[in-house]
Amino acid sequence: MRTHSKHVLMCAGPRCTEGGRQAEAMFLKLGELIDGRPGLKVKRTRSHCFAVCKNGPILVVYPDGVWYRCAGEPVLERIVEEHLQGGNEVSEHIIHRLGEGDA
Ligand code: FES
Repeated sequence: MRTHSKHVLMCAGPRCTEGGRQAEAMFLKLGELIDGRPGLKVKRTRSHCFAVCKNGPILVVYPDGVWYRCAGEPVLERIVEEHLQGGNEVSEHIIHRLGEGDA
């Protein structure tokens, strides 16, 4: 396993998107975006469900404890570019924060 400083959990379950197909495609896209940035130390893991199934896929960044609704590739690209790479949360897509609750 590569050294990583952030861990992204992404839902590829059946209810975030129709049958989970778009969610699975976005999980694969997340891998491409991470691999395209060799300096980025991020591990990704597919999740089945976070029990907030709507307008997903849901994406959680740890250790930051930030939960996103990642409705579409433009949002995914912003999360990778701005949060994972730049260290700035994409606040308008955050739905929940560890220790604080729903946004
Ligand atoms: S199917 Fe994605 S949160 Fe439930």
